[in-house]
Amino acid sequence: MSAASVVISGMGTSIPDKVVTNSDLSRVVDTSDEWIRSRSGIAERRLAGEKETASTMGAAAAEKAIADAGISKDEIDLVIVGTMSPDMPFPSTACLVQAQLGLTPVAAFDVIAACSGFLYVLETGTQLMRSGNYRNALIIGSEKMSSILDWQDRSTCVLFGDGAGAAVLSLSDTPNIGVGQILLRADGSKMDLLNMPAGGACIPPSAESVSARQHFLKMNGKEVFKHAVREMGDITLETIEKNGLTPEDIKCFIPHQANIRIIESIAKRLGVSMDRFYVNIDRYGNTSAASIPIAMWEARQKGRFGPGDNVLLTAFGAGLTWGGAIVRWTA
Ligand SMILES: CC(C)(COP(=O)(O)OP(=O)(O)OC[C@H]1O[C@@H](n2cnc3c(N)ncnc32)[C@H](O)[C@@H]1OP(=O)(O)O)[C@@H](O)C(=O)NCCC(=O)NCCS
Repeated sequence: MSAASVVISGMGTSIPDKVVTNSDLSRVVDTSDEWIRSRSGIAERRLAGEKETASTMGAAAAEKAIADAGISKDEIDLVIVGTMSPDMPFPSTACLVQAQLGLTPVAAFDVIAACSGFLYVLETGTQLMRSGNYRNALIIGSEKMSSILDWQDRSTCVLFGDGAGAAVLSLSDTPNIGVGQILLRADGSKMDLLNMPAGGACIPPSAESVSARQHFLKMNGKEVFKHAVREMGDITLETIEKNGLTPEDIKCFIPHQANIRIIESIAKRLGVSMDRFYVNIDRYGNTSAASIPIAMWEARQKGRFGPGDNVLLTAFGAGLTWGGAIVRWTA
């Protein structure tokens, strides 16, 4: 069976209750509300509780997305999770989500593309749906970033937050709606700019690796910032062009929420007012693979786009990875 279009038929989020403000963090590391707000645009973030993980938040977001799509769990036949903070190295967080949701033994796997994770799972899910072998796919971005942050490193721990967003992809016979052309890019030669050095085969866990704090996220923020500004700007323009559109055809821009200054630079480059960019970094910080689905869900709830509107998604993250996508909204 083949279908004309793959659409997002439902969405959901799961955001931890615990709010941590910049002032709270200034009691943990040498920082200030003024520094964090002015450099990043972040005012507060949510941090997961002890029992909340990428799989539990992902499953909670997925339950809501399935309900939003108006289908039953039995109609899901594919689960893909984008995460860089999985519950454990293996099995995949997608398998844990599948078990928690009580799904039948359908395909489930993870994709690691860091902050670009949601665009990577969107492309993977969309193309597998186009194969005709699946009816409905669950794609999830879920992160417990707090579990991989070094709470002694003020240059990174203030920037991230926890949460999950999920979408159901379904087939539609209506042509030219739903997920358009997605562009994905990677440059592994710059892996040193943002990574977690230990825990894999290069530096297996040991007393030395733990005392050297190598199991935490490491980032060269200044360099990552420069690449993010350039690559997200370029890929946004290229994505719009490849889909046969102009910036004026985009109702709502949903960028990965890493830094308000990166988002402002993309808006400036495109000559588009910031009013058309959805921003929630002030409330959540950078939730990595969860940031786009959380922002998209909120933007939709707030009526920032509706049926027939073009929504642009763009992301950048460790790898380096980056990408852009257009979704013509249907639900
Ligand atoms: C991290 C980031 C906010 C830093 O902003 P910046 O303007 O580049 O700041 P700098 O790195 O120049 O740091 C300036 C100073 O602030 C200090 N500083 C770093 N973190 C700080 C904090 N939390 N509080 C106070 N001071 C801090 C630095 O030590 C530095 O001090 P120095 O000049 O005495 O050495 C910015 O580089 C960034 O957003 N990078 C990209 C992050 C990102 O998007 N990552 C995820 C990819 S998806």
